[in-house]
Amino acid sequence: MPTLLHLDSSADLHHSVSRALTARFADTWAGISDDHVVVRRDLHVDPLPHLPTSALHWAPRLRTPEEVVPADAEALQKLLVDELLNADAVVIGAPMYNYSVPSTLKAWIDYVHIGGVTATMGEPVTEPLAGKPVVVVSSRGATYGPGAPGEAVDHEIPSIVQVLGTSMRMDVVPVTTDLTLATRLPALHEFAGRAADDLQKASDAMVELARRFGTR
Ligand SMILES: Cc1cc2nc3c(=O)[nH]c(=O)nc-3n(C[C@H](O)[C@H](O)[C@H](O)COP(=O)(O)O)c2cc1C
Repeated sequence: MPTLLHLDSSADLHHSVSRALTARFADTWAGISDDHVVVRRDLHVDPLPHLPTSALHWAPRLRTPEEVVPADAEALQKLLVDELLNADAVVIGAPMYNYSVPSTLKAWIDYVHIGGVTATMGEPVTEPLAGKPVVVVSSRGATYGPGAPGEAVDHEIPSIVQVLGTSMRMDVVPVTTDLTLATRLPALHEFAGRAADDLQKASDAMVELARRFGTR
């Protein structure tokens, strides 16, 4: 059963661009065959608690004697890691909040990035997620593409690529859609056409990527 893990983190339950795009991805995935499964986790509606202890950043064998983890936190971490391991592909709705990821998504990342489990921390090499595709949908109010004034302050995509890609060895595919505030902010009205083009491209990319990763 080809399984998609579908994560959202937008705090907007009515007009969210990233939610619409990840839903398009998930619908395309589910439509490929009756066997295609979608596992859904809404990090905004059901937020994870912050890490109760830094010990969760380490595999049990790498913890110091004082690093004791509460059983419920250990169980939650195992659930989240298992969801990731069992998925054939992942789609993440990652709206830009204050130049970075929403704190709800950051909490999920803090749980699943574990030295000696999902990331190599010395010997042996531990990269069970190597090559797993993860499509990251970054919706943002302004513009951060190559050459844009905001390019240098996009602290979202680079940090996700660093953690999920460089450290956890996943195959990160960023899909961005810029100027989502063009219809809301008068100062950005003139960019409404560009915003619409961007959104259409991102929407088309959802269908193409879901088919690509769902049929390989
Ligand atoms: C808390 C918060 C912080 C935001 N910070 C930024 C920002 O740093 N840069 C930006 O371009 N837009 C920012 N925005 C606008 C959102 O990125 C934009 O509305 C985007 O479409 C949100 O994704 P969504 O439509 O999936 O909810 C922010 C919005 C919120 C609610």
